[in-house]
Amino acid sequence: MDQAIILAGGQGKRMHAPIPKPMFKVLGEPMLEWVLGACEQAAVARICVVTGYESEQIKTYLGSRCETAYQAERLGTGHAVMQALDFLKQDMEGNTLVLCGDAPFIDAETIRDSLVRHIAEHNAATVITANVAQPFGYGRILRTDSGIAGIVEEKDATPEQRAITEINSGCYWFRTADLIDLLGKITNNNAQKEYYLTDTIAIALESGRRAGAYCSKNPDVVLGANDRKGLLALNEAARHAVLNKHMANGVGFVCTDGIIIERSVRIGEGTEILPGTILRGKTVIGTNCVIGPNCVIENTEIGDDVMLNSVQAYDSRIDSDVKMGPFVHIRPNSHICSGAAIGDFVEIKNSEVGEGTAIAHLAYIGDSDVGKHVNIGCGCVTVNFDGVKKSRCEIGDHAFIGCNTNLIAPVKLGKDCYTAAGTTVTADIPDYALAIDRGTLQVKEGYTLRKFAKK
Ligand code: UD1
Ligand code: CA
Repeated sequence: MDQAIILAGGQGKRMHAPIPKPMFKVLGEPMLEWVLGACEQAAVARICVVTGYESEQIKTYLGSRCETAYQAERLGTGHAVMQALDFLKQDMEGNTLVLCGDAPFIDAETIRDSLVRHIAEHNAATVITANVAQPFGYGRILRTDSGIAGIVEEKDATPEQRAITEINSGCYWFRTADLIDLLGKITNNNAQKEYYLTDTIAIALESGRRAGAYCSKNPDVVLGANDRKGLLALNEAARHAVLNKHMANGVGFVCTDGIIIERSVRIGEGTEILPGTILRGKTVIGTNCVIGPNCVIENTEIGDDVMLNSVQAYDSRIDSDVKMGPFVHIRPNSHICSGAAIGDFVEIKNSEVGEGTAIAHLAYIGDSDVGKHVNIGCGCVTVNFDGVKKSRCEIGDHAFIGCNTNLIAPVKLGKDCYTAAGTTVTADIPDYALAIDRGTLQVKEGYTLRKFAKK
C-alpha cells in the first residue's frame, strides 16, 4: 500500500512565534492542511505526520485524521523520518512518500505522476525536483550521464554546485523496505551536523540500488516559507492562482486590491467582486451578484443577484435578490430571505428575516423570526437578553414596526399589526392591532426664555 510521511517538526525560528512552521496559514489554511489535502486527493492510503516543536498544536489540529510520530530533538530531515519507523514497519510492501509540511503547493497530480515513474524505473528512491531561477537555500540535484548522482545542500555545496538550478523539492518516493534500510545508513557528517534525508539518494546508488529524479512541471511545488516575507509570497501566489481560476469561470474583478478568496469558496458566473473583500471557508455565491467593496463573508451561502456593500456575514444564508449595506453585520445562524433590503448599521443575529422585508437603518434583530414584507423602522431593537437568558421575538407578515420600537422578548406580534414610534412592547399584539405606548406630551411655552432670564 502507498503511504506518506509529512515532516512537520520544525520551528521556523525566523517566524518569531510559538507556532510550528507548518501551522502558519496560506489563504486561511495551515500549510500542513495543503500538504495533507494533496495526499488525500492523491488517494495515499496511510499518512503519518512527524511533529516536534509545539507538537500539541499539530496533534490537536489533526485529531484522529491521521497518525503522528514525535521527534523530541530536531536533528535533521533524515532523523525526522526515523521517528516514523514504527509507522513504516506496519506496511513494508509498497512505497512511501516523504513530504515537507512547510511547502504547501505540492499537488496530487505531481504525487501520482512521480509514483508512476518511480515504479516504472524500479527505483529505491525518486526525488521530485524543479528547475528554478533562484536556487539559493535549496538542495541541488547532482547529475551524471547515467542520471541522478546525489543531492548536496547549499551549506555543503561548492561554488560550481551552487550554480545548479535543478533543486530538491523535499518530496520523495521511496520503496518502503529500502527506506528503512537507507535510514540506518545516514550519518550527520556535514556542515549542519544533521541527519540529512537527502543523503539516502547517494547511499542507495552506492549500494547498487536505482534512484531517479522526477522534474515537476509545476515549479511552485518547491515553494516554502522560512520567514514572514516568504509566507507573504506564498499567500500572494495562492491568492492569484485562486483569482485566476474564478476569472476563467466568469467572475469579474476590476481591481484585485485587498481581495482574498480562500480555496474552498465557490462563485457563480457574472458575479463581480470589488476591492477589500475577503471570502472565507465554505462560502458559496450565486450568479450575477456584486460583492463589495469591503465585505467579509465566512461560511455563508448567497443566492443570485445579491448586492452586498460593506457587509460582514458569518455562518448564515442570504437568498437571491437581497440588497444589503453599507455597514451591515449578519451574525451566525441567520437566514435572510429573497428580496429583503437591509440598510446601514443593522445587526442581525440568529434570526430569520422574511421575503421582501425592509430593515433600512440602525436596528438590532437578535433571536427573532421576522415575517414577509415587514417594515422595521429606524432604531428598532429586539430586546432579546434580560441579563440571564435569551428569548425570541416573532413578528407577523406585513407588520409595520415604527421607529425606535423596543420589543421586550419573548413577545409575539401578529400579522398586519402596527407599533407606534417609540413604543416599548411588553405583551403580545394580535393581528391587525396597533400598539402605542406614549406618555402625554407636555409643551412648556416660553421655557427657554425663562431660563435665559435667570442668568
Ligand atoms: C530540505 C532539504 C533540501 C530541500 C528543501 C526543500 C534536507 C537535508 N534538505 O532543506 O534539499 O531543497 O528541504 O524545501 O532534507 N523537519 C523536521 N525535523 C527536523 C528537520 C526538519 O521535522 O529535524 C521538517 C521541517 O519542519 C520541514 C521539513 O522537515 O517541514 C524540511 O526541513 P527544513 O529544515 O526546512 O529543510 P531545508 O533546510 O529547507
Ligand atoms: Ca525549508
